[in-house]
Amino acid sequence: MEGLIAEFKSWAVHSVAALVFLYILLQVFKRVSHRSWRRPPGPPSLPLIGHFHHLMSGLPHHSLLKIAEKYGPIVWLDLGAVSVVVVSSSDLAKEILKTQDHIFASRPAMILGEMLFGKGQGLIFSPWNDNYRLTRKTLTTQLFSQQRMDTYQDLRRDLALKMMQTAFDEGHANRDISLSDLIHEQFMSLTTRMLYGMDGHAQNKHLLEIIRDLTETGWLVLEDYFPLLKPFDLSGEVKRLKKLGEKYSELMDSIIDQRLKEISNSKSNKEENLLDVLLAMSSFTRSQVKVILLDIIFGGSDTSSDTIVWAMTELLRHPNIMERLQNELDDVIGKERLVEEADLKKLEYLQAVVKETLRLHPVGVLGSPHLAMESTKVAGYDIPAGTRVTVNIYAIGRDPNVWENPLNFDPSRFLNSPIDVKGQHYEVLPFSSGRRKCVGMNLALVSVAYNVALLVHACSISLPEGLTALDLDLEEKFGITVSKRNPLPLLIKRRLSSDVYRKAGLSVSAQ
Ligand code: HEM
Repeated sequence: MEGLIAEFKSWAVHSVAALVFLYILLQVFKRVSHRSWRRPPGPPSLPLIGHFHHLMSGLPHHSLLKIAEKYGPIVWLDLGAVSVVVVSSSDLAKEILKTQDHIFASRPAMILGEMLFGKGQGLIFSPWNDNYRLTRKTLTTQLFSQQRMDTYQDLRRDLALKMMQTAFDEGHANRDISLSDLIHEQFMSLTTRMLYGMDGHAQNKHLLEIIRDLTETGWLVLEDYFPLLKPFDLSGEVKRLKKLGEKYSELMDSIIDQRLKEISNSKSNKEENLLDVLLAMSSFTRSQVKVILLDIIFGGSDTSSDTIVWAMTELLRHPNIMERLQNELDDVIGKERLVEEADLKKLEYLQAVVKETLRLHPVGVLGSPHLAMESTKVAGYDIPAGTRVTVNIYAIGRDPNVWENPLNFDPSRFLNSPIDVKGQHYEVLPFSSGRRKCVGMNLALVSVAYNVALLVHACSISLPEGLTALDLDLEEKFGITVSKRNPLPLLIKRRLSSDVYRKAGLSVSAQ
């Protein structure tokens, strides 16, 4: 037995050595064949790992911002075996996402996509192909159409009020709540109810666990950048993501089976949710349906909720801005009823607060990686086919050449300004732009604005005893989204008269 183990160890060492040698050869070949190109500038690199060490300390979007400050708005990085071009200015973002969008609209193959997203059979991880276009069209017309958005308005309201009820119940007992937890729960329920109409089931708890595990990943899975090491899975991520994929697939199978049973027992042919629509379409296989649902769960659950937590953190750090927003809400809505989605368009300052939050805290700081489908030039530099391109959305929103006092949270910069956050103005691109722009943008904008308005107008919010606004930090946690690292504990009580809440269906105890 020992002999066998020793033999295996020696085989493994030889295999790794051979792979490393092969890798070095490949890198040398790449360098020599690329010598005639005009490559974008970049920091010094090291053998084997390339520029990886520049991203090892601190958060990747911060490190990339620092690199851009030193080497300019377009830089070339070799991350192991993968070449990445990072752009950090609005002009170059426009070049990638508009002028040459037809070239950069694809996605690279990634381990996360392979293990959980059916090798890109859905949306987020899909290369640019016919299947992608059909999926995107289906989602745009079936889930995110204005008509569907309207259908789910009551659901959004019910879930937000339910969250408020929990916060009041705790506040009444003088207990603080974690805003992140409550908001995350609300958005997970919203997403699953829109997708397959179920909520409060044991499945949702499991789904939440899977999504939590998934969002821990971030974009940096080591083996994506050192593909030769993938069979050895040194980081353990390949195995972890594979297991997670199997767990998700099993869970979703049980949800789909349950839904199919419900449909066959029901007399009505009406498609009530996205799962019904997808199951009725012959163009999608069951495994594609599962991937598409995961795309939406993945894209939709944490993004809006993390944005709301950032908005509330900034408002609590800036009492004067909070007061101005509250005054606007009191003036426009009054104090005799709760704010409704229909009011949002009239609330100019609220819209400015949401935009400013998305400028300073775009939760998708680096967007999703794009891939050059053919060789091209950007800013006079050669970009070979197959190069990954990342737009540093975070850096663009903080560019001092574009924004005055860029680090200040100042919503008034968006008042009387034509600049919007919907992808037409390249100075601020929280949802990116072009063919791969966020498909859930309209839903996100309504949900974020509505929740912030409700919290500020209907709630009296204070920090737990002993904490002041100065204690609220802006530390970030990097994952698939960039969220607030430390929790936001809040004591939430009613701000309006009891009747207002009663009329809205909330149970009101004496305060
Ligand atoms: C504040 C909230 C949100 C922000 C800041 C945000 C941001 C983004 C960004 C930056 C991208 C990458 C675009 C690119 O590759 O160029 C993206 C893609 C995507 N988002 Fe969002 N998002 C948000 C909410 C949502 C919601 C609510 C959903 C769904 C319910 C969603 C679903 C998606 C999907 C499916 C993609 C992939 C699109 C594609 O590859 O074609 N997002 N989002």
